[in-house]
Amino acid sequence: MKDEKASILVVEDEPKMRRLLELQLAEEGFHARTAPDAETGMQILNSEPFDVVVTDFKLPGMSGLDFLHAVKRVNANLPVVIMTAYGTVESAVDAMKAGASDYVLKPFSLAELVLIIRKELASRQLREENRDLREALGQRYDYKNIIARSDKMQAVLALIERVAPTNATVLIGGESGVGKDLVARAIHEHSNRAAGPFVKINSTAIPENLLESELFGYEKGAFSGATSSKPGKFELADKGTLFLDEIGDVPGPIQVKLLRVLQDREFERLGGTKTLKVDVRLIAATNRDLRAALEDGTFREDLYYRLNVVAIDIPPLREHKEDIPGLADFFLQKFARESGKPLQGITPQALRMLMDFHWPGNVRELQNILERGVTLSTGSMLDVADIHLDNPQPRAAAGASPVLPQGVTLEQWEDEMIREALRRANGNKSQAARLLGLSRNALRYRLSKLGVPDPPDNS
Ligand SMILES: Nc1ncnc2c1ncn2[C@@H]1O[C@H](COP(=O)(O)OP(=O)(O)OP(=O)(O)O)[C@@H](O)[C@H]1O
Ligand SMILES: [Mg+2]
Repeated sequence: MKDEKASILVVEDEPKMRRLLELQLAEEGFHARTAPDAETGMQILNSEPFDVVVTDFKLPGMSGLDFLHAVKRVNANLPVVIMTAYGTVESAVDAMKAGASDYVLKPFSLAELVLIIRKELASRQLREENRDLREALGQRYDYKNIIARSDKMQAVLALIERVAPTNATVLIGGESGVGKDLVARAIHEHSNRAAGPFVKINSTAIPENLLESELFGYEKGAFSGATSSKPGKFELADKGTLFLDEIGDVPGPIQVKLLRVLQDREFERLGGTKTLKVDVRLIAATNRDLRAALEDGTFREDLYYRLNVVAIDIPPLREHKEDIPGLADFFLQKFARESGKPLQGITPQALRMLMDFHWPGNVRELQNILERGVTLSTGSMLDVADIHLDNPQPRAAAGASPVLPQGVTLEQWEDEMIREALRRANGNKSQAARLLGLSRNALRYRLSKLGVPDPPDNS
């Protein structure tokens, strides 16, 4: 371990044993902290970083096994060593299954324990070095269901890889349809909460007056219509992940309650008096620029900083077009399988069309276009005729090299475009200006500059 001392957290209810371990571990050059029970252990763990946890299996209150689960939810990479006096092989096996790194059977010698701790520290360091090496070598991450060959998407996967095993709150940003839901699920599935629930709530889809009770639940009689009590999403997500979609649209009063849950992990149901504690990892998503919402005061700054512990920004599809062939193939296979069509692939011309499009609706739009295309196709290859883009852009605007026709000057071209727009708008100048993306005044100015007669407006 670098040059600092490695930190060990020891949870042991027997005072003499606890003191002994603390002293002896310190003598061995570790920084040791101790707790008499799992609850205190969790508190210490949440307030400072540790390299290894050593815990007794039989504890008052929360059991060693539950403690192990709780630690793993906080940080799946943290090695936990179990001490068990009940030399039954089963409890040690249970612990190993639940993710313990190793165990010692009581009575053990200190040398034995220290050996195990050093082994854990070494293998943890190795894992970290491995990961760094893998990144340095540009080794590709491979997630099923996520097509990500481009460097930009690989960077997203690298972040998921790092953040998934931790308990950190994640704020996912990106335009509509870029894959925010997909990424939120991937984080959950690669965390130690994967066996727990993944609960999603979309704040825009729920009327404001219901959002609070959806999130926090309510007791019978909390409001008219509350004929029975109901748990909220936070309770349902206990030991799992809560995904708060469209966080930017959460109204102010609920932002305050969210802040409290994030800080203290506790809340009350509506109309309830009992304070409930939950073990939930929060992932939030937004397709708005929350920083702008901070400036105009519609989003609380303190909540923003609580949420934005780790930010994952997913780029729009037009910024990682290298992924289009892979995505097209992925969706084509999927929809061909679902509809039982014997499609082999996509023609180069059709792919060209997809590559040249600007994808305002991002991956979701690409997926829809392919679904429609597969449904319509009759041949063995998906072709240009099967692909129906909404408002396809002229090639020039879509990233191919914009070149003026031979022998035409820019002014002549502009002149021609303006005449064409006027023709299409039947002489209606307001409409022509819209077609050209100009203001009415800007068009008038250009018309006079180009010496185009200003036809009487027939609007
Ligand atoms: N990289 C990808 N590989 C494969 N499928 C993808 C990828 N990105 C997105 N998709 C698919 O595209 C669709 C839209 O993605 P998703 O619902 O995650 O977007 P979103 O960012 O949450 O959109 P919104 O802002 O509208 O909620 C989903 O069906 C998803 O599975
Ligand atoms: Mg979404």
